[in-house]
Amino acid sequence: MNFKAEVENFLRSSEKNPERIHVIHFEKTDSTNTRAKNMLDICKDVRQLNRTVIFADEQTAGRGRLNRPFYSPAMTGLYFSVIVTPERNAFTPAVITVSAAVAVSRAVKSVFGRRCGIKWVNDLFVDGKKVCGILTEGHINQETAQIDAFIIGIGINISTEFFPSETGNKAGAITAECKENQRAAFAAGIISELLRIYDNPEAEYPAVINEYRAASILIGKEITVTPVIGNEQKKFPAEVLDITDDAKLKVRDSAGNILLLDSGEVTLH
Ligand code: BTN
Repeated sequence: MNFKAEVENFLRSSEKNPERIHVIHFEKTDSTNTRAKNMLDICKDVRQLNRTVIFADEQTAGRGRLNRPFYSPAMTGLYFSVIVTPERNAFTPAVITVSAAVAVSRAVKSVFGRRCGIKWVNDLFVDGKKVCGILTEGHINQETAQIDAFIIGIGINISTEFFPSETGNKAGAITAECKENQRAAFAAGIISELLRIYDNPEAEYPAVINEYRAASILIGKEITVTPVIGNEQKKFPAEVLDITDDAKLKVRDSAGNILLLDSGEVTLH
């Protein structure tokens, strides 16, 4: 069975309405987020693409936050983008990223038995190395200038062994080996979990944000905040106090001021 059929099979066994999820699979593409954006750009009614999931076995131009490259070699990872078109749902990109991080973390636990640490806002770690990054992008409707869809891009190093030198030794993998069937089960598990949270925010999100806080590798730690990327002079040290319900990082700077960060780059001391 090919990967798309395997994912659909797993979704059929876990989803009440599996037919509402459309799976597209490429062996190789530039970036599944870019593919999703291009599809949304040419679609008259973006709601037709709600719950479309685009997978690639390999990405030639995978990208992360701040336009950093995301290394996406063939078959040893999972690279996919989920399109959702919000209706009443008031999720912000940060809250969607938090939900995706918890969905991945739950699936890592159930499929591989490993526990993830989460680095605000979009990185998951296993054994002190980054194994997953999430890039949530809003798609803007050209006529209304409003966000009409979110693209949730998830990149996971399942068993990638070697990384390019610029990634240094910061990236790692979840497991040494992963069978194709397990890769599809893992993918379907993440999608089901993410859409379950997304569909039931009132019931699901309180537990999600608590789990996110509990898995945080930043709370209680000293960090360096770079609020404006590219402007290194604006860096400052701070202590992380908490993560708010709307996914802001609550920190105390060295003058004792309490700040709520909703973007920026943080590094652990
Ligand atoms: C990050 O580490 O800053 C986020 C990485 C997000 C990578 C995923 S892989 C699937 C999707 N397509 C992309 O080009 N990026 C996201």
